[in-house]
Amino acid sequence: MIVPIKQIITKAKAGKYAVGAFNTSNLEITMAIVRAAVQEKSPVIIQTSESAIKYSNLKTIFGVITNLANTVGKSVPIAIHLDHGKNWPIVKDCINVGYNSVHMDASEKDYATNVRMSKQAAVAAHKKGIWCQAELGSILGKEGMVKLETGEINMKDLMTDPQQAIDFVAKTKVDTLAISVGTIHGHFKGIEKVDQRRLKKIVASVKVPLVLHGGSGLQTKVFKQAIKNGVSVINIDTNLRLAFKKALIKHVDTNRDTSMVDPRKILAPSTEAMQAEVVKTIRIFGSKNKA
Ligand code: G3H
Ligand code: 13P
Ligand code: ZN
Repeated sequence: MIVPIKQIITKAKAGKYAVGAFNTSNLEITMAIVRAAVQEKSPVIIQTSESAIKYSNLKTIFGVITNLANTVGKSVPIAIHLDHGKNWPIVKDCINVGYNSVHMDASEKDYATNVRMSKQAAVAAHKKGIWCQAELGSILGKEGMVKLETGEINMKDLMTDPQQAIDFVAKTKVDTLAISVGTIHGHFKGIEKVDQRRLKKIVASVKVPLVLHGGSGLQTKVFKQAIKNGVSVINIDTNLRLAFKKALIKHVDTNRDTSMVDPRKILAPSTEAMQAEVVKTIRIFGSKNKA
């Protein structure tokens, strides 16, 4: 059932476990996340990126998530969140359509602009009684990886400064903070790490719940240590994409010469594989039976 995100995250922070924030852009991914949450009796956050919204249409994907959450998922707490809203019009539209939380990501801008844009989003979100996430420091993606490899940028320079975090949260009044502590968007097993010392300093500096982005590719022990150190939300996208693709290739390969043409049947193993991935993640994060 859709509930205010405050209810989900406050309980996770107090209970010292993390809630998974899983990205979706269609019916199958959403079904997989909701079914896994019900199976594990776990709260979940379901999030859409700007590009997912462009792909699926805001009202459509919002309807898919809310309808599934309030029917199939009625026994577990579920919140809808905008992930990496870099453009104010999309952030505003998500607030108005009924999201439970929005991420105003102005982390690529200069500090003063990041403060101004994050504060503006927080004010608008709070008027509707919802939460706002902002980001301090940069979390790299594929393009950033190239710059990292060529030495054009240094990971340490991109990480969240604990002292600056105090000023940032005080000025913006955001409810959750996305931090940069060494993770990367995508699957870079072995390369991405969590700077646990920095994480502990940030936890000691600010009271707001912290969000770890770029979760895919991290080892179980790294997740567990980060949660022990105080992370309350962890974003996962690529792991579900990989599960989807692997199952699809196998299923299509084995059925290439059969009469199977029904897209629902073609996609069923992929949906099941994503559900299994979410179940595995929920168990690692410790949110099983926390509904
Ligand atoms: O952090 C970004 C998310 O993985 C969403 O990516 O823009 O391809 O939907 P996307
Ligand atoms: P991954 O794709 O690395 O799991 O990152 C997801 C994310 O941070 C979404 O905001
Ligand atoms: Zn992210």
